[in-house]
Amino acid sequence: MAALVPIRHLEKLDGDHPIVVVSRGIPYCVTRSRDGTICAFIAVCTHKNRAIVPLRIKRGAIPCPHHGATFDPTTGEVADDRGKSIPTGMPRVAIEAMPDGGLALVTKKSHKKTLPKKERKRVRRELQQDR
Ligand code: FES
Repeated sequence: MAALVPIRHLEKLDGDHPIVVVSRGIPYCVTRSRDGTICAFIAVCTHKNRAIVPLRIKRGAIPCPHHGATFDPTTGEVADDRGKSIPTGMPRVAIEAMPDGGLALVTKKSHKKTLPKKERKRVRRELQQDR
């Protein structure tokens, strides 16, 4: 079942500063491309199924804090695997317009399968903004 999770602080979103939204222990990464397109992904690295937390954009890419692979912030695809076996990029998440003019992530219960429970707990602990 899908749930809409509002994306707050959209005014802070630019090419260098992603927004991280946490729901059910899953970190979602919201980015804006140079042409203004807003994209959202589950911030997970499939090398070891670890959350990409802390999350930032460095030299135009999102680095995995665990072993250094990088991801394209506008497509979620692997930009540099650093010699690791990374099966997929960050899974894309749909965005919907809200009646109040804001935007919301379309989150699904199945997103929990992307991260082990231990990692979801770490995300909650580190970001302490779960709803
Ligand atoms: S978990 Fe991301 S590169 Fe290893």
